[in-house]
Amino acid sequence: MNVCVIAGARPNFMKAAPILRAARAYPQARCRLVHTGQHYDYQMSEAFFRDLEIPRPDHFLQAGSGSHAEQTARIMTAFEQVCQRDRPDLVLVVGDVNSTLACSITAKKLGIAVAHVEAGLRSFDLTMPEEINRLVTDSITDYFFCTEQSAVENLRREGKPQERIFFVGHVMIDNLFHQLKQLQNGGARSLKTAPLKAQLGTYNFLTLHRPANVDDPNRLRELAATLNEIAQDRPILFPVHPRTQKMLERYHIRFSHRVHLLPPLGFREALYLWKDARVVLTDSGGLQEETTALGVPCVTLRENTERPVTIQIGSNVLGGVTRQSILDAYTRQRDRERKAFSVPPLWDGKAAERIWKALEKVGHQLIR
Ligand code: UD1
Repeated sequence: MNVCVIAGARPNFMKAAPILRAARAYPQARCRLVHTGQHYDYQMSEAFFRDLEIPRPDHFLQAGSGSHAEQTARIMTAFEQVCQRDRPDLVLVVGDVNSTLACSITAKKLGIAVAHVEAGLRSFDLTMPEEINRLVTDSITDYFFCTEQSAVENLRREGKPQERIFFVGHVMIDNLFHQLKQLQNGGARSLKTAPLKAQLGTYNFLTLHRPANVDDPNRLRELAATLNEIAQDRPILFPVHPRTQKMLERYHIRFSHRVHLLPPLGFREALYLWKDARVVLTDSGGLQEETTALGVPCVTLRENTERPVTIQIGSNVLGGVTRQSILDAYTRQRDRERKAFSVPPLWDGKAAERIWKALEKVGHQLIR
């Protein structure tokens, strides 16, 4: 079985890594890695490849940035040539970024089966580009790999055949546990932020990059002012995404000296910081789940989440995007016991193995 694994943007790399690692136990699956180049800065891409021990991609499509249509079109055009040359039996896409959408459409139109890892998540918010990517990808996916029960239920409600839906747990948590072990085995020694972490002692950790939060200057200004207030309670470590950096400069928005602005960090360095934060504030999807797995209190700077299990477990609360709602959520999370949460079912570090087991079973009948 020839399988083409797609990775394009930062949150894809940590999902692809355990899938590629686990593939070694299945020699009948010949894996090729395609990097679409959606993310291309050293800190957004190569630093991740290095940290996550991902092999050199077999194909690098150099898609780069642009409008959604431009970026998606560039990925599709380049990936079509890869498919025509390599003729994979299966294209495996992960997550919900433009690369996920572009490669699943391209494969399906060439009659190649599509597997979607992290299928079925729904925010029910069509203003999010990721929700459109999720819906379109799942509408043409053949094999659905789900991280939580809500995703299974969403797919059932949408009429997807039961025998193609596999509840396997979360490959991102596989990666998290693997990386945690590396950190404990001396991987923290050379990290640049070690002195800052030691100096602060106690701190919060922030990520912010969603277009709905950072592209609108009024929203971004209110968020920055609120985060400055929170930093009065505890300093904040904030690795800044390139999109956010651009917007902060464009609108001349500044943070107080208690918000420490950092460049985008590699996976291991970010983990080293957020795992010991008092509270993580974020609008990322993945960090809501990773904090849940380690029992770190999280405030999500959004009004909804496609990952409801993190709210049910209680490690994550929706902070919304206004000053008062964020401050209320922060106060609630700050005063919480750190380890008082359970971990969602099958978030045990073995999701990638389950994916290959399932694919091994369907291998002889791959849908054409
Ligand atoms: C993408 C994903 C989002 C994910 C995020 C994680 C989509 C629709 N969105 O959003 O789901 O949470 O990645 O990072 O696919 N830029 C650089 N260097 C890079 C990459 C981007 O400078 O390596 C800048 C560019 O100016 C670009 C902007 O950041 O215009 C946004 O990048 P883009 O890939 O379009 O989307 P993200 O906001 O990163």
